Amino acid sequence: MSVHKEVKRVTTHVLAEMKLHGEKISMLTAYDYSMAKLVDQAGIDVILVGDSASNVMAGNETTLPITLEQMIYHGKSVVKGVTRALVVVDMPFGTYQGNSLEALNSAIRIMKITHADAVKLEGGKEIMESVERIVMAGIPVMGHLGLMPQSIHKYGTYIVRAKEELEAKKLIEDAHYLEQAGCFAIVLEKIPAKLGQQVAEELKIPVIGIGAGGGVDGQVLVIHDMLGMTQEFSPRFLRRYLNLASEIKTAVGNYVADVKSRDFPNEKEQYD
Ligand code: KIV
Repeated sequence: MSVHKEVKRVTTHVLAEMKLHGEKISMLTAYDYSMAKLVDQAGIDVILVGDSASNVMAGNETTLPITLEQMIYHGKSVVKGVTRALVVVDMPFGTYQGNSLEALNSAIRIMKITHADAVKLEGGKEIMESVERIVMAGIPVMGHLGLMPQSIHKYGTYIVRAKEELEAKKLIEDAHYLEQAGCFAIVLEKIPAKLGQQVAEELKIPVIGIGAGGGVDGQVLVIHDMLGMTQEFSPRFLRRYLNLASEIKTAVGNYVADVKSRDFPNEKEQYD
């Protein structure tokens, strides 16, 4: 039985059912109304309004500069385009690390204004109190472990995380803490496939991977990467389904040539 084909609206409960039935969860990012509408119509289960918007939409080097107001703007735009997928909004850097009340207030602001279904936070045991407080307020929380881009200045590199035993052990512990705190799912980014599978097997909640191998409960990619709009970024885990960068450049080049040669607009493309 396919849980995903049966439902009109994906909820956190539906995702739990998918894990129970061994059905993989599909998740992609989106940051605007038009793209979210297409991704939703194509049948995605979860749309993440990722703080990767800082990189792919705003052109920043890291996810750190994006603000709560900017994430709310993207979240609101995405929600308007979606009728079926579960929409999760990333809580940006600096809006939840201070204390659990700050975290709760930021999460409430996101939910009230965007009408999204859930929020996502990066971190393990150290954010457990915040996760509990947000969940207690009735807001579903997705966790995020492994490579956490908001901590890039601590790591100093985007290499695979948790290859060493000590870091792997901490990641497993953190995953259990997040489950205990009430997360409905967690994202694992750029870790060894074996470790991803172990965490997915140990947890009852769905584990969604990006560069965490095929043994987890679902996969997430950044939409600009999987559509081939970003050209410089080529990690091993990325599968490109289109070469949109080249398609767009060809189309724009053709338009420029048509305007210059006066081929556009032709007679049928103008009014009498
Ligand atoms: O911001 C983002 O796009 C993410 C994904 C990489 C999971 O957090």
